[in-house]
Amino acid sequence: MSTRRIAPPVLGVQPIKADAQVPSFDLVREALSRARRAPSVWNRQPWQWRFDGAELHLFADPERLAGVSDPDGRLMLLSCGMALHHGIVALAGLGWTAHVTEFPTDENALHIASLRFTRTGADGGAILAMFLAMDSRRTETRPLASLGPLSPVPHQLAQCARAHGASLALLDDDGIDAITGAARLPLRSERMSAWRVERDRADVGVLLTESDDPQAWLHAGIALSAIILLATSLNVATCPIIDIDDRPGVRDAARRSRNGHNGSVGNGTESGGYAQAVLRLGHQRYPVLPRSHRRDVREVLRNR
Ligand SMILES: Cc1cc2nc3c(=O)[nH]c(=O)nc-3n(C[C@H](O)[C@H](O)[C@H](O)COP(=O)(O)O)c2cc1C
Repeated sequence: MSTRRIAPPVLGVQPIKADAQVPSFDLVREALSRARRAPSVWNRQPWQWRFDGAELHLFADPERLAGVSDPDGRLMLLSCGMALHHGIVALAGLGWTAHVTEFPTDENALHIASLRFTRTGADGGAILAMFLAMDSRRTETRPLASLGPLSPVPHQLAQCARAHGASLALLDDDGIDAITGAARLPLRSERMSAWRVERDRADVGVLLTESDDPQAWLHAGIALSAIILLATSLNVATCPIIDIDDRPGVRDAARRSRNGHNGSVGNGTESGGYAQAVLRLGHQRYPVLPRSHRRDVREVLRNR
């Protein structure tokens, strides 16, 4: 069990006050109806929120991943991390700072987090941008235009990953080829238009963590959520991919990153960190996709 504030510089979180305060159920429901937009593996949304009148709890729901190969729960916890971060952003956008205790009970491994609150009032800047990005973000699987060598965005996203205890390695072309071979992923797809084959110039990043356990998977999900919301707020389209058959192969490719990753994750150990997700990113070339389906907030949030 560990209590932490998640990435103060990114979320604008204020210092913990001694007395927790409590938002109304209506406000929590409003926040989580926005946070429902969190992406998840195959859009399964394997989570459940409960508000007990004082604290908000996030539980993993493995039954929602029926048929998905996830033997150790990594994909489930990555998805829950994304839901948790979206929930925190939504609450912050509505004026409430969440103080998170991860894995609060030893008895129930599915109890992912408990959130206590302090009132912070309207927050501006980064929070507002991420709050709005939750609604406008889409997983973009169509060809993307490259960010270009002079773009500051990869650096900003890498900084964001670091603020959340992870690292984001942007691959060069050799690295992308290596991953495509290692994991057989359509990292740069082709699309037939009426006239020609449209080349995909997506940039590709690998999200790495220093360890490879449930807490690291949860943190990877939190970091991934922060990265894709920041990217969206910078008008950069994203597509997270975790269908990685060969994670060591992806990690090895990440050593050849173009933003100086070079195995620096893991305090310089030989492991170079653990690949948790691959992220396609780039400039949008097509009209915005329709929203994908989500469960109703009444199904996602219980009041007890
Ligand atoms: C951790 C994670 C892994 C994902 N892996 C894949 C993937 O391997 N292939 C894919 O096409 N989409 C993948 N997605 C995207 C989801 O399928 C997508 O988020 C979901 O369908 C909802 O669509 P939306 O993000 O546009 O709202 C992944 C999303 C997350 C959060």
